[in-house]
Amino acid sequence: MQAVILVGGQGTRLRPLTLTVPKPMLPLMNRPFLEFQIDLCRRHGIKDIVLSTAYKPEVFEEYFGDGSRLGVKLTCVTEDEPLDTCGAVKNVERHISGTFLVFNGDVLTNLDIASLIAFHREKGGKATLYLTRVEDPTAYGLVPLDRRGRIAEFLEKPSWDQVITDLINAGTYVLEPELLDRVPDGECFSFERQLFPGLLDDGIPMYGFPSDAYWMDIGTPAKYLQAHYDILARMMPFDFSGEMIKPSVWAEEGAEVSPEAAVFGPTVIGPGCHIAPHATVSSNCVLGPGCEVGEGAHLEGAVLHEGCRVGAESVLRQCVLASGVRVGENVHVSDQAVLGGGVTVEDGNDLKHGIKVWPRAKIPPSTLHF
Ligand code: GDD
Ligand code: MG
Repeated sequence: MQAVILVGGQGTRLRPLTLTVPKPMLPLMNRPFLEFQIDLCRRHGIKDIVLSTAYKPEVFEEYFGDGSRLGVKLTCVTEDEPLDTCGAVKNVERHISGTFLVFNGDVLTNLDIASLIAFHREKGGKATLYLTRVEDPTAYGLVPLDRRGRIAEFLEKPSWDQVITDLINAGTYVLEPELLDRVPDGECFSFERQLFPGLLDDGIPMYGFPSDAYWMDIGTPAKYLQAHYDILARMMPFDFSGEMIKPSVWAEEGAEVSPEAAVFGPTVIGPGCHIAPHATVSSNCVLGPGCEVGEGAHLEGAVLHEGCRVGAESVLRQCVLASGVRVGENVHVSDQAVLGGGVTVEDGNDLKHGIKVWPRAKIPPSTLHF
């Protein structure tokens, strides 16, 4: 069976991280996120994958090539203009034969794909949607089922007064190819707002497959951080590499941790990182390659991409630093703050409450003195 992975969105809710790196290529545990989805497919014997790209397509092509390094056959197809979720699949129709899978390219899951496919075949519907339960369905596609497990309605981004279930579209579908006959060529078309509601209007059987497998859409800073914390908490399988230098503290090749630094797991210290004396790298941190943490700095729940530098006595909590960020001394960054690629924050600043700092910004020295 083949899979189409949709990776063409702009990832606006993850800006400024996605100004330079498309969402599916953002590092998760120091690996491009998309590798998790490709691994999931390969583990279930799905080795023929079509990547539907629109935003920054060259980043995917350069990194994955033909997919052989990951043991799959990868075909990248780029839209001239973004065609929305279903239009994007219509655009790759010539590469598809037979029943196929579609994945949203920003969903981390360990769903048993084989059981989803088996369920689809057993029920004999034209479409089967993986469903998961969330506390706030208003950010997703709401999918109430009838008593036989057939999809009764599909309500994309419902208002609270429409919420009659906690089951939502988890962004993975098994589809019969003839469904694409209903989709116009070269036009914007949405699974969520057009194809699925249209199938229901015409009485075409669609089934929901609720599962309590691990599931997370990484599309906001809070959820991108949470995906790291969940993997570190072993809620999602992951092959940790490097040496475990303390319980659940993995230091990768060439990482230097001063004997006078304190490190607590679960945490990953990437290759070539340097942790200075009296620094504390506490739980839930993932440091990308070549990061430097200065004397007396304190990190907790911080995700740092490649080549970041954190000055002495600075404190980072629950925040994301894109590649090459420079943080001065005595800086506080917390509460889901996101610093874009190459940002410089000079000494003494306090950045919190979801603040987002765009690439090339330079935050001047603060008037605050600690
Ligand atoms: N190729 C291509 N072209 N891909 C696209 C386009 C496009 O024009 N627009 C969006 N995508 C891709 C995105 O890259 C992403 O991987 C996927 O389609 C879904 O887009 P999002 O923007 O992430 O949608 P969402 O998170 O608001 O909602 C979707 O996912 C939820 C689950 O996470 C919907 O499918 C909801 O129904 C669902 O609950
Ligand atoms: Mg999404």
